[in-house]
Parts: sequence; structure tokens; C-alpha cells
Amino acid sequence: MPGNTFGTLFAVTTFGESHGPALGCVIDGCPPGMNLSELDIQPYLDKRKPGQSQFTTQRREEDQVKILSGVFEGKTTGTPICLLIENQDQRSKDYSDIKNLFRPGHADMTYQHKYGLRDYRGGGRSSARETVARVAAGAIAQKYLKECAGIEIFGYLSAMGDQELNFNLNLNLNLKNKEIKKIKENILNNPFFSPDLDLIPVLEKKIEDLRRSGNSIGAKITVIAENMPIGLGQPVFDKLDARLAYAMMGINASKSVEIGDGYLSISQKGTEHRDEHDGENFLSNHAGGTLGGISSGQDLVVHIGFKPTSSITTPGQTQNIHGEAATVSTKGRHDPCVGIRAVPICEAMMALVLMDHLLQFRAQCDGPYQQEVKR
Ligand SMILES: Cc1cc2nc3c(=O)[nH]c(=O)nc-3n(C[C@H](O)[C@H](O)[C@H](O)COP(=O)(O)O)c2cc1C
Repeated sequence: MPGNTFGTLFAVTTFGESHGPALGCVIDGCPPGMNLSELDIQPYLDKRKPGQSQFTTQRREEDQVKILSGVFEGKTTGTPICLLIENQDQRSKDYSDIKNLFRPGHADMTYQHKYGLRDYRGGGRSSARETVARVAAGAIAQKYLKECAGIEIFGYLSAMGDQELNFNLNLNLNLKNKEIKKIKENILNNPFFSPDLDLIPVLEKKIEDLRRSGNSIGAKITVIAENMPIGLGQPVFDKLDARLAYAMMGINASKSVEIGDGYLSISQKGTEHRDEHDGENFLSNHAGGTLGGISSGQDLVVHIGFKPTSSITTPGQTQNIHGEAATVSTKGRHDPCVGIRAVPICEAMMALVLMDHLLQFRAQCDGPYQQEVKR
């Protein structure tokens, strides 16, 4: 398979390039009967769109979504839903200098060698413009998950470079609802998706210094699904953890995925890591919401590590398409920290995984012989 389709029962195929006329997706398998209009999808695209603050790329795209099929009289029909988002602010001449050069750390070299040609304008298909289509599909999944299973997803920036922005992840265990609500509001009310408003000046300075010095920085994003049912995930090869890692590693520039305590588990003792249960509730959430590849009913917690943007103005050594040594310095409009804008993308990918697994659960385990999904 050429790799442009994600999911089994809720299958999303994306299409389009950074500087082509449009991007979009076809979603096959959306259950019929759900109320759906562009207004349900647009807020998710607005959260992702570029040019919203001075801390991300200055490319300006309205990212207005059009539903081309699969909806009749305001309801999904069960037929393929096609979503289209037109490109408007391409500036292809910015890329003429790298037509024959490979940016170190970008996909230019591998695309050229694999396919023998490439759309070099804005990175073509390897550009994160492609993720606009995933976010649109993820919006439909998030609507269904919330309305039909009560599942809600939210993400935030948990580190930029060496600056950690964590808050206590054992949400249900240690924080009162009011505090959680406040933190979620904070996340949505700053350009970094930071849970900690006091750190905004620190982040702003970091980005300004990086821009001035022609450099970029990595980041970590955390995504959480609340109100999870028990039972999502298909052991053994399609364990929920495995599908989440696959989904997140499919995002541009992602370099690591951790579930729950992730890498910290390496240095923990069994007595620290295991999540004990008092008969009513779990007493901690180190596992991150899965056991045996099946959701445990606890919050699902996933951390994704993003590398620093490779298109930077500091000159670097590289090669041209003829294999000769060269120097490159990238012009154009780039995100100094791609992780910031990745928050809605990670949320969308988690939604696509959960949507697919919810439908799989219903197909296999929700028949007359099985119990209902337990809360
Ligand atoms: C939200 C987002 C925005 C991005 N913006 C840029 C950018 O402005 N410039 C750039 O060089 N890479 C950017 N990237 C990363 C590239 O798309 C990515 O590094 C490239 O496709 C190579 O793929 P790989 O890093 O997964 O190996 C962005 C990634 C994300 C998730």
C-alpha cells in the first residue's frame, strides 16, 4: 500500500501538496445519521492553522473546509465523506533556490531518490500542510467519540527544548475538576498551548532568540483522552498502544512516542510502576490507560517528541541532486518550533485511532453475547 490511508473501519485517505491547489481527504466508514456540517469541523482547523501568532510560520491560510460528499440534509449518509481545503498563500518562488538542493534534516533527499522527482515547492507532500486533512477527519472522529461514547481528547505543549511545562498528569486522581477546567482554558488561551501561563514570557523569549540566531528547537506534546471505556484495542499486533505509536510516528517530525510513564518506566521498580486498585478506583496511572493493549478505563496518556525544524537560515553543508557538496540556508516561512502547532494534529491522530477501535469493538464484542462496554 502506498501509505496514504489510515484506519480500518474508519479509513481516512489524505491527498494534496503544500503548494498544489488544494488538500483534502476521503473518509470511508463514518457511521450514518450523525449531524454534520462544516461548522463542526472548522474550529479544529482554526486551532491548527498557520499565521496565527508571531511564534509560528507566517504563511496565512484560511483553511476553510468544504464537505463535498457523504452528507445529506445535514446528516452523514454512511457513504464516503470527501473534505476539501484550498491552498491560498503559496509562495513557491521562496523554494526555487532549493530545487536542486537537499535541506539537511528534511525529506528532500529521500523523496528525490525514491521517486526520481519531487515537488520541491514547500516540501510538496512531505510538508505539514498535509496534516490539515487529518485534522479535518479527526474533527469528525472527535464529534462521534464525544456524542456516542463520551470520550474527550485534549493536548498541550509539555516541553520546549529543556523547558518542561508539565502539570500533574494523574488528573482524575489528584486534581479537582475545577482545576482541570482552568488548566484546559489556559491551554486554549495562549499561542503555545501551554498549560502554565506563567511560563509564556520564557517561551516567547526562547522563540525570539532562536529566530534571531537562525535556529530552531524540539518539543514534546502530551495528548490525553478522558472518559475512556474499557475494551478498546485489538491484541496482539493492533494493541491500542501499538496503534497510537504508529499514528503519532506518522506525523511529520515526530521522533518518539511514550505511553504513560514511558521512558521513566525503565528506572522504576515494580512497586512504583504498577497501578494498584482499591476495588473502586485505580490509585495511580503509570500505565497511561492501557493494559495488554486494551484500554483500562483510565485516562489515555501519550507523549510525542518532535525534532527541531530543519529549514533554518543558518547555513549548513549538504549535497545537490547530482551528489555534489553544497551549502544551504533556507528562506521562506517556517515554524521555529514545529511542536507548537502539532497539538491539534496529535489530538486528531488519537481520535482517528480511538474511532477505529470503537467501531472494531462494536463489531466484535458488543453483540448479544457480550457485556456492554464497562465504564
Ligand atoms: C505542524 C508542523 C509544522 C512543520 N513546519 C515545518 C516548517 O515550517 N519547516 C520545516 O522544515 N519543517 C516543518 N515541519 C517538519 C517537516 O514536515 C518534516 O521534518 C519533514 O517532512 C521530514 O520528515 P521527518 O521529520 O518526519 O523525517 C513541520 C512539522 C509539523 C508537525
